[in-house]
Amino acid sequence: MWGGLFASGPAEIMQEINASIDFDRALGPQDIAGSLAHVAMLATRGIIEAADAEAITRGLAQVKGEIEAGTFAYSRALEDIHMNVESRLAELIGPAAGRLHTARSRNDQVATDFKLWVRDTVEALMGQIVGLQTALAERALASADMVMPGFTHLQSAQPVTFGHHLLAYVEMLARDRSRFADARARANECPLGAAALAGTSFPIDRAATATALGFDRPTANSLDSVADRDFVLEALSAAAICAVHLSRFAEEIVLWTTPQFGFVRLSDAFSTGSSIMPQKRNPDAAELVRGKTGRVTGSLVGLLTVMKGLPLAYSKDMQEDKEGAMDGLRTLSLCVAAMTGMVRDMAPDAAKMKAAAGSGYSTATDLADWLVRTLKMPFREAHHVTGRIVALASGKGAPLEALTLAELQSVEPRINAGALEVLGVENSVRSRTSYGGTAPDNVRAQAKGWLERFST
Ligand code: ARG
Repeated sequence: MWGGLFASGPAEIMQEINASIDFDRALGPQDIAGSLAHVAMLATRGIIEAADAEAITRGLAQVKGEIEAGTFAYSRALEDIHMNVESRLAELIGPAAGRLHTARSRNDQVATDFKLWVRDTVEALMGQIVGLQTALAERALASADMVMPGFTHLQSAQPVTFGHHLLAYVEMLARDRSRFADARARANECPLGAAALAGTSFPIDRAATATALGFDRPTANSLDSVADRDFVLEALSAAAICAVHLSRFAEEIVLWTTPQFGFVRLSDAFSTGSSIMPQKRNPDAAELVRGKTGRVTGSLVGLLTVMKGLPLAYSKDMQEDKEGAMDGLRTLSLCVAAMTGMVRDMAPDAAKMKAAAGSGYSTATDLADWLVRTLKMPFREAHHVTGRIVALASGKGAPLEALTLAELQSVEPRINAGALEVLGVENSVRSRTSYGGTAPDNVRAQAKGWLERFST
């Protein structure tokens, strides 16, 4: 492509470090879409002859067919997807192929291709996230009454419902989806026509190519157009945060499936056995979701590090934007799919969860609230009285609800039988009716609300 100046070819190691075709071949469909929009515009503007434009368009359609059929012969000597496609086009249609690159550079071409790829990938991820949210909301609706321990510091804190716990992840995933939607919206400006860095002297119509490719408008500054990789960074930061959410959930599944917790059983489809210990059921898929988070966050940090310190406009460093980003976004897609499968398959153990919910004096706050409500005690004093009652129960090695009224009254004589009712876990969750609280009716209403939104 630059034989005019060069007398000899690249060193073998130069080709090795320079070629990107092994990974940017994923941009084939986007590269052809960009070229089709470009060539149509060149013809409309009279920059190339209609006959050449027709030949190029027909040739590109054939190249597209070869790529889709898997018969396209990629060449590392041709460096990247752009030159692979153009070279094949020349084989197919002859010298007219050489007119396609008028008023264009690989710099604006690759920015356009990768934006299209990131846009498609982000859209697919958003759809997958809705799938996971739906699985969670359906399960939440089915387990709106299922009591489990709620934790802070991983210590039993207050009872919550399993449905409520699952809906917390639906909220996180909603923010993830909104971050992806934001990234997609901001990325939707077309760099094509910025050429190498300065624009072009040909009378191109950048608005036309932008529209043809589904962008909202062309990018406004040619230097920024070829130097910007914010669209990748934003998609990766949304992905990194989403992966961290999945990792926290995965960690909970790992805990819940231990014999010690026993809150949830994963199906055989999402567990593995041990080659030495016959009793083992290992939650490998959850562990791998947790582990793969490192790859996703790593791809963000990798590209931030590539971009840091690059002068305007394009530098070849930027070719390093693709491998990590593609791996990071594909990894997240796999993790979302695995989580969706696990959520659909998991079997919660309501009895185990309820038993655990009552341990650790988890209704102590309910007793303190009762003292405040019924005896008009200041909360700080109620906290102190309840603390003494917990100490009494723990001294006997008994749960709160095993204490007699007389025992409660030995600490605070004004306590009456009504206090005994708030000590059960079911009453506890039912009483948490504040907006966003864990009361089963709240959980049911929210789960239904989500499912309605997902179905429209
Ligand atoms: N393969 C290159 C990349 O991914 C395409 C752009 C190359 N431009 C250039 N002037 N060498 O960034």
